[in-house]
Amino acid sequence: MDKMWAGRFSKALDKEADDFNSSIHFDSRMYKQDITGSIVHAKMLSRQGIISGSESEEIIDGLSAILEDIESGKLRFDMDAEEIHMFIESELTKRIGDAGKKLHTARSRNDQVALDIRMYLRAECDEICTLLLNLIEAIKDKAYENKDAIMSGYTHLQRAQPITFAHHILTYAFMLLRDFGRIKDAVGRMNISPIGSCALAGTTYNTDRYFEAENLGFDGITLNSIDGVSDRDFCVELLADFSTIMMHLSRFSEEIILWSSWEFKFVELDDSYTTGSSIMPQKKNSDMAELVRGKTGRVYGDLFAMLTILKGLPLAYNKDMQEDKEAIFDAVDTVKKCLSIFAPMISTMRVLKENMYKAAGEGFINATDLADYLVKKGMPFRTAYKHVGEIVGYCIKNGYVLDSLPIEKYKEFDALFDNDLFNEISLETCVSKRISAGGTGPSSVQKQIDYITEFLTNEKGIY
Ligand code: ARG
Repeated sequence: MDKMWAGRFSKALDKEADDFNSSIHFDSRMYKQDITGSIVHAKMLSRQGIISGSESEEIIDGLSAILEDIESGKLRFDMDAEEIHMFIESELTKRIGDAGKKLHTARSRNDQVALDIRMYLRAECDEICTLLLNLIEAIKDKAYENKDAIMSGYTHLQRAQPITFAHHILTYAFMLLRDFGRIKDAVGRMNISPIGSCALAGTTYNTDRYFEAENLGFDGITLNSIDGVSDRDFCVELLADFSTIMMHLSRFSEEIILWSSWEFKFVELDDSYTTGSSIMPQKKNSDMAELVRGKTGRVYGDLFAMLTILKGLPLAYNKDMQEDKEAIFDAVDTVKKCLSIFAPMISTMRVLKENMYKAAGEGFINATDLADYLVKKGMPFRTAYKHVGEIVGYCIKNGYVLDSLPIEKYKEFDALFDNDLFNEISLETCVSKRISAGGTGPSSVQKQIDYITEFLTNEKGIY
């Protein structure tokens, strides 16, 4: 295919170099943004008297027909084309002749690609935000169903204090709420239009960049044309946000994998989200969660690729920047897939409350509460802490847990102990008395659920 820029060359591009240079196999996914941008550009050109009204109409009709043909499958991307921008422009000229050749007046592929990618990411971020809300909702519902499921909370993966399963998993809902906010913030910064920056220096034509920005749904324009074409900060920022989402999902995945193990048996994933083994008939593997955990590495890789592509890059546009797309596209696809598999995996997950409860009772997770019992009877916390440490040591040596140690034995340790201690250290009391704001007590957990419900109502309008 003859290149549009072939005029100053005496030889065609080497075949392998041509393939190497081409980006159509990945940037074709921005066809809609490219066409939408071009339609508004044609409108602006005629409004400003740069091309005629009839030329603009021909261009717009031609571009609309191309869009329709791509979407119906009638027009296929030519894999020999250099990229999506050239493909659409040359298809337009093929169809409408000379008017098509006027479309590229007062713009460059440099501002065109910067525009397309911002518009593309804006739409994808919308979808990602919806997927985030769906997952937050699935977690919130699972938490609501399991408000009474007592389990051990862990620090250092050692049993620490009793909590509810609801309280535990709501943590992930709050992480994802922050992710939602981060994406909204990044989109807010990204949503200004670079079109009209042209190659780098602006243009001598009397263009109206504000008209284009407004008609393409932007909140404003980039104020420096060099920055307009060379900025990819929004890619870095979004990749960092996507990496954070993946980091959160990987932590949740890890816990689900652990909880599904025969040793824990705290949850059982639905058959539709697990796989078997080709050799071990008993196996039920948490492949989805493992894949999400694994794909986290991939998204981190995309972030590092982007940062490294931009490192030390001189102003303004450099072809290196073509490499931004595969990284950001891969991250977008991966995050979307992971979020959409995660929500139903959580909704269908069975919580094995009895197992959790039993496991919680086998440790010494009420030791803090036993110390607090003494504190409430007047003992300084450090002294109480030391006493309880000795009692725990005694229990471990002699095969007791705090709930089964006879009261007589307790009294040998300290006269402050009385029969009411057993109620004070029951798992139910330990949980229900944790009434501090944000704590694991039922009213605090309900407040968290209410907060999330309200958030979802405002963002989603589903309640
Ligand atoms: N395919 C290019 C990219 O993705 C489009 C911009 C090309 N500009 C240029 N001057 N070669 O970055």
